[in-house]
Amino acid sequence: MDTENRRGFATSLGAIAAAAGGAIGLGNIWRFPYTVGVNGGAAFIVVYLLFAFLLGMPVMLCEFTIGRNAQSNVIDAFGRVSPKHHAWKWIGIMGFVCSMFIYSFYSVVAGWTFHYVILSCKGALVGLPSDEISNVFRNFTAGTWEPLLSMGMILLFTGIIITAGIEKGIERFAKILMPILFGIMLLLCVRSVSLPNASEGLAFLFHPDFSKLDSRAILSALGQALFSLSIGMGAAMIYGSYIRKEDSLFKTSLAVTAADTFIALLAGIAIFPAVFAFGLSPASGPSLVYEVMPNVFNSMPGGVFFAILFFVLLTIAAVTSTISLMEIPVSYISEKTHFKRSGITFVVSLVVFGIGTLASLSFGLLADFTIFNHTIFDFLDMVTSTYLMPIGAIGITLYVGWVMPKDKLVSELSNEGSLKIGWFKFFYFIIRYIAPLALLIVLVSGILKL
Ligand code: TRP
Repeated sequence: MDTENRRGFATSLGAIAAAAGGAIGLGNIWRFPYTVGVNGGAAFIVVYLLFAFLLGMPVMLCEFTIGRNAQSNVIDAFGRVSPKHHAWKWIGIMGFVCSMFIYSFYSVVAGWTFHYVILSCKGALVGLPSDEISNVFRNFTAGTWEPLLSMGMILLFTGIIITAGIEKGIERFAKILMPILFGIMLLLCVRSVSLPNASEGLAFLFHPDFSKLDSRAILSALGQALFSLSIGMGAAMIYGSYIRKEDSLFKTSLAVTAADTFIALLAGIAIFPAVFAFGLSPASGPSLVYEVMPNVFNSMPGGVFFAILFFVLLTIAAVTSTISLMEIPVSYISEKTHFKRSGITFVVSLVVFGIGTLASLSFGLLADFTIFNHTIFDFLDMVTSTYLMPIGAIGITLYVGWVMPKDKLVSELSNEGSLKIGWFKFFYFIIRYIAPLALLIVLVSGILKL
């Protein structure tokens, strides 16, 4: 009995740690602060929190359910859960395309992070005033070869890990390292909050001014919530398929949502007081973390050491995400064809390198080339989280709410009747009516800028 209990505990914690590891990444520490900054601060965060818990978490629970029930790749999962409804596989196909797009710009940013490991090791940013630090970032990203090389390194690491089949090993490794990242984030929060003028940053984060919110900002809060939780594209289905039959899907999704949100908020607290203390602009966009954090490190004892540790851990957090992004196309193609995993990995990496090159060059050579008024990087970043992921999320809730047989759903959520699911009625109401409608309204009003 005793050992049974212990094993149960260890596995559910393992499931949470693995799924949280896949969700926590650049989305929390790079993308969250920059979208908060662009969208005016506290009011955006309030909307973000509502979306994460009231829409994101139920969608994650739906994905876990489909994944654990189907035990298959993202595209075939829909047909397996409900064999008559093959058309739903288009949601999976969209997830496939979405994961390739995300991987393309994500690896550019992961490359920047890796470059900052090297810069910190060299001490290249030590003692520089904040405008010089910003120039270092601009000059680096505007260049052609250096950012491409850094991105290539990320694709190479990821490809090697996937071909060698050691993803599980890396995950275990990451499980030990992520708590260290968490510790450093706490430390950085303390440093940032004690800087002169910190109160301005805290007010930006915690005093909402709802008059600043428009429908675009609301749509980007939704996009950020889905992006950060890795949902709306089938990635959580893969995690769901790993979750043991005896673990509670509900608890797992709640714990993952809470952990992911917590890390994002910590990143905000570490960054915004420093933004104001060093006279930077909160709305500077994707460069924000790379322009702000070196100043914080410069202002603290042992800063060089913490800078190296921070960027190393952030690179590792990014690589655990690139691994699961890569897993979506690779696992599908390898189940459908006879090609070797190594060959598939190589081809997928090449395609991603191609798209990623365009994204990377959009900070330099291709800066003037725009699609619907967005640079290629911004376009990929925006199109995935503000269009494809919300559409995917609508499809997933409709599928679980209206297509999946209810008894199958109840049985999956209650582990065949062994767990009490008093929340089911509320959940079912949300995913049948509220979530699809709310997602649709946010999406349409954001697109039309109502
Ligand atoms: N959630 C990840 C992050 O915050 C990014 C991400 C989005 C992702 N979709 C994904 C990661 C799918 C893995 C798989 O960094």
